[in-house]
Amino acid sequence: MTHLSRHSYSSSYSSAGRRVADWSPSEHSVGLDPLDHDHNLIFIALGTLENELKFLRRGPTLHKTVKFLSHLTERHFAREEHLMERLSYPKAREHREQHGLLTAWMEAVLPSLGEMRRPSYDDAVVAYLADWWSLHNERHDKHYGQFALERPHETGNILKLMEYSSAA
Ligand SMILES: [Fe+2]
Ligand SMILES: [Fe+2]
Repeated sequence: MTHLSRHSYSSSYSSAGRRVADWSPSEHSVGLDPLDHDHNLIFIALGTLENELKFLRRGPTLHKTVKFLSHLTERHFAREEHLMERLSYPKAREHREQHGLLTAWMEAVLPSLGEMRRPSYDDAVVAYLADWWSLHNERHDKHYGQFALERPHETGNILKLMEYSSAA
């Protein structure tokens, strides 16, 4: 017996059955570093949320993780929308509406995470978020990424200011 014996630590944790994929450059990159960095962080936060719900249910840090995910999401949407507006991206309005729908969904659903007696509810929420980010990335974000890459000078200036303001 060791002083850790009250806890059962498993060394067999694997990625099998995980809802949230790791962000990967080949699959998810939109070709713009600051936005790729945002997406990477959001995938990490989603993975953390998934693990917390799986292993701790309503653990003491769940509230902080949800808050962090919401903060990253809000900041990221604002950055994308700023870039799209500055570039006069033709599908900016439609894209912004997609962001608005997810924001409203998160505000309605996330406060009750971990409170339900059914783990399947939490699992369905994580699955929805994981699917949303993958699909949105593929169907929407990569399109503005391509549009921006076709305007390298203008895009470079906007991204430089974006990085400067987030470092301040
Ligand atoms: Fe995005
Ligand atoms: Fe987006």
